Amino acid sequence: NGNGDKPSNHWGSDEYLSREAKDKTVDNLLPNEDGPDKEKGNFVGLERKLGLVSGICLIVGTMIGSGIFASPRYVMEHSGSVGLTLIVWSLCGVLAMLGALCYSELGTMIPLSGAEYAYLYEGFGPLAAFLYSWTSVIVLKPSQVAIICLAFGAYVIEPFFQGCGDREDLQPVVKLLAAIAIGIILFVNAASVKWASRMQIVFTVCKMVAIIMLIITGLVRLGQGFTQSFENSFANTQNKIGIVGFAFYNGLWAYDGWNNLNYVTEELKNPYRDLPLSIMIGIPLVTVCYVLVNIAYLAVLTPAEIMTSSAVAVTLADRLYGVMAWVIPIFVASSTFGAANGSAFSGGRLVFAAARQGHLPKFLAMIHTKRHTPLPAMLFTSIIAWVMLLPNSSSFETLINYFSFAAWVFYGCTVSALLWLRYKQPDTKRPYRVALPIPILVVLASIYLIVAPFYEAPLESFFCLLFILSGIPFYLVSCISRSCLKVSSMALRG
Ligand code: ARG
Repeated sequence: NGNGDKPSNHWGSDEYLSREAKDKTVDNLLPNEDGPDKEKGNFVGLERKLGLVSGICLIVGTMIGSGIFASPRYVMEHSGSVGLTLIVWSLCGVLAMLGALCYSELGTMIPLSGAEYAYLYEGFGPLAAFLYSWTSVIVLKPSQVAIICLAFGAYVIEPFFQGCGDREDLQPVVKLLAAIAIGIILFVNAASVKWASRMQIVFTVCKMVAIIMLIITGLVRLGQGFTQSFENSFANTQNKIGIVGFAFYNGLWAYDGWNNLNYVTEELKNPYRDLPLSIMIGIPLVTVCYVLVNIAYLAVLTPAEIMTSSAVAVTLADRLYGVMAWVIPIFVASSTFGAANGSAFSGGRLVFAAARQGHLPKFLAMIHTKRHTPLPAMLFTSIIAWVMLLPNSSSFETLINYFSFAAWVFYGCTVSALLWLRYKQPDTKRPYRVALPIPILVVLASIYLIVAPFYEAPLESFFCLLFILSGIPFYLVSCISRSCLKVSSMALRG
């Protein structure tokens, strides 16, 4: 955007559609029909600045946010036993890594920004790509913001209500805090990209400190012989495979963001080597951290305590850290706040890009003339996130179910596009080729993740599916308005 106030690529834990973010011209809006980003003339080339370490930090930074502090309760509830809980957390890491490796092949084969949008376009055409952008703009991004802010709310109030029994009554307060957090994030992002990115660095440090503190605590406790929680660890294991799907939803939420590096492939110095390598280092690193943090929770608390705590890290801190217990809620709240800030930032950029492509009303692609921030787009994402907090039934858990269902429909489709492209375009250059069983495995896992919860809670999944498909009429409308625009612009030029 050429004003010196643009986000640095190293701004800790977030993704953004880099090319779109740089190109802020709102004129020249005639939507292109050649597919993603083919309007090349518009763009300033991006510098290849990111090395291996930045790649790893980007992955780790986006993945760690709210999930590891808020999901453990639900993973345990749905898996029933300590043994299965730890297996689910580990398998989620494996799935995230396999998924990311498939994305590496796609990212190096189709080096366009927009990740899923570009791959789905190449594999299955414009409608599939549109439905993805529709779903991510209306469901995925706003629900990410809402979910993370709910975790923020839970951690902010927890210290004040320790030992007060039922947390259900506090849900309105949690929601109010979440709504306030969304408002602050909107304000900061609308005011200045520079503030937003500075804030991000502080929060990234906070979350790393929190994770390291918890891991050390766990290791010390294990060393002291507190291993009761691990005895008989498969007793009460959930035997309904559909319900275990919900455990995966919650675990996978903590890993979400594994595809993040694909949004900046163009900015990697050596993408063919660094893209897969960052994934193979970054994701196992997060997996080990997550499993160790879970072991820490279990070394301090009983499974029953974990299942009833809405802010498990606070419960742990209260038990052990004495007068220093206040640091955990503060660090975790900062971590979640940073994650929400990241999601809101990229959500705004996505709305902006979709509007510029002609998929959403044009005013959403407007940029604040002085502040150079995509204000209408940010506001759009925040309003939907606020609305998501309104229904009585909406909570961290229910929103995760909606989010994960929709997300895995598209992760599955994207990896299917990889398989389809192998068949359809066997000779296209693939600088990084993933072993064939991997995408097959990821597609099968996605099918499980879509079907199992559908079977257990058909209504929720059905609504979600209906929502995704309701993009079709909008697609048709946008096609018609595109052709009208084209005709009128041709008439004007003529
Ligand atoms: N894994 C993150 C968390 O635990 C959520 C990431 C949301 N997704 C994203 N692409 N930013 O809070």
